[in-house]
Amino acid sequence: MSNIVTVIAPVNIAVIKYWGKRDEKLILPLNDSVSATFDTSVMCAKTSVSTHPDFVEDQIWLNGKEESFSNPRLQNCLREIKSRAVAEKTITEDVLSWKVHVSSENNFPTAAGLASSAAGYACLVSALAKLYKIKSDVSSIARLGSGSACRSVYGGFVRWHAGSKPDGSDSIATQIADSNHWPEMRVLVLVVGNTQKKVSSTVGMKISSETSELLKHRIQHCVPQRTEEIIEAIKNKDFSKFAEITMKDSNQFHAICLDSYPPIVYMTDISHSIVDLIHKYNDLSGETKVAYTFDAGSNACLYLLKHDVPKVISLIKYAFPSTSPENFITGLSVAKEEINTDILSKLCIEPMGMDMIKYIIHTKIGEGPTEIDSHLLDSNGLPISKIKKI
Ligand code: PMV
Repeated sequence: MSNIVTVIAPVNIAVIKYWGKRDEKLILPLNDSVSATFDTSVMCAKTSVSTHPDFVEDQIWLNGKEESFSNPRLQNCLREIKSRAVAEKTITEDVLSWKVHVSSENNFPTAAGLASSAAGYACLVSALAKLYKIKSDVSSIARLGSGSACRSVYGGFVRWHAGSKPDGSDSIATQIADSNHWPEMRVLVLVVGNTQKKVSSTVGMKISSETSELLKHRIQHCVPQRTEEIIEAIKNKDFSKFAEITMKDSNQFHAICLDSYPPIVYMTDISHSIVDLIHKYNDLSGETKVAYTFDAGSNACLYLLKHDVPKVISLIKYAFPSTSPENFITGLSVAKEEINTDILSKLCIEPMGMDMIKYIIHTKIGEGPTEIDSHLLDSNGLPISKIKKI
């Protein structure tokens, strides 16, 4: 009988962005970053791992399709997990020599700037850690899969410390506050495009680190102060401060992309119209009620408080009409609200063309990886597909 461990792991979206590596192989960042972890009941990666003396080779299935296990990042994660198991003396030598089978799925589009690799690698590493009975922090191992994955190892609000040691042993994630700390916090992911990004984050970071002067300025003069300030804002639940820093940091990250040579462009005209709309809405509200942030893609991630969600959704529905309004919002339910005509007239906006925003995922802050017992591998270690797509 093979032993199977299955874990679901969350997506995280940074409010202080990681952009640039000081070590490409160990995936060590040039700067600290801060993120929020999203509820796995809405968006998650799910991974089953199994090991058995009869398995003839390491095998992996992603979204039901077999992929090569020779991917160096995958190899690094497995090797480090095994060496941790040796160091912690958690399992016997013969079990360590058995091959592993992995089956993993995301319930949201892969590589569309929705942090799928973060959730995926955090899930893989957390599942392997449980399989090999590792007790210590595994964020530094998840980091070897995808840098930002180290932040998905914890729930709530998380800081990834850049660290300074050449071996990367101090480049780990720690929790700033747990998932219950700021229960009113909500997230709207506005899916603008669900196609794969043009320039991978690895390639983009390399170009920026080699060519952008602004990147150097950001790392030295902006990130250290911003990181301390946003941590304070999170601890004090100071939304307007949190939102202002989040937006400024997103803008600076995309400015660095444009300052790179050749320039890298992730945001589209639609992304910029979302930015305009949020600024207009905040101005009109007389306070910062919504924050946007964009990763290496065109999708917007909005942070806002629960009581503002119905208003903001009605505004987005007006500004970005959909041909399929009944399927426009997925995730947590939203109280219905009619658009406030007074706000609309003051905002002076015209609706965009149809379906510029494909759909919205409504979610909240959630916990880190969790073990579950509905598996993606059968008792022979072969994949079964069950996950419900959003
Ligand atoms: O971990 P990677 O290689 O997918 O890079 C993530 C980069 C950003 O998403 C743009 C920023 C971040 O901190 O997550």
